[in-house]
Amino acid sequence: MECWKCHGPTGHGDGPSAATLTDNKDLPIHPYDFSSGSRFMCGVTNRDLYKIFMTGLDGTPMPSFADDIKPAEAWDLVHFLRTLQPLDTPEAAIWKAWLASHARELKPIGPEGGGGGVNVDELFS
Ligand code: HEC
Repeated sequence: MECWKCHGPTGHGDGPSAATLTDNKDLPIHPYDFSSGSRFMCGVTNRDLYKIFMTGLDGTPMPSFADDIKPAEAWDLVHFLRTLQPLDTPEAAIWKAWLASHARELKPIGPEGGGGGVNVDELFS
């Protein structure tokens, strides 16, 4: 879905488009850094998170993905985003346990699926 173009391959808000984004008043705006905090601007629950990328955020470059993501995939994405937060969520625990034995099976996120210079080993060490 190319979320990485704005939010960055590791969700730090540093994708290649990040520096060029402006809001509807032409002011610079930064994509959310998922590792920066425990809450999202638009709420704290999984349902809030789901709504953000299904509806998009008005007045910002954050688009709606309702036409591109099926509901079941959207819930997968919600749980994935939870693993990026610095929180002891159930998702983070499952993710860490899975990662311990499966890290090398992961396909990096980035340009042409090639990782955009992101090293999987660095990501998960
Ligand atoms: C064109 C650039 C762009 C793309 C592509 C994009 N986003 Fe965003 N996103 C933004 C910006 C900019 C914000 C911050 C809006 C704000 O600060 O008001 C944001 C905010 C968010 C937030 C809200 C964070 C909060 O503080 O509540 C979530 C969640 C999010 N994006 C998820 C996604 C997901 C998931 C995808 C891919 C399916 C995606 N974004 C793709 C630019 C983008």
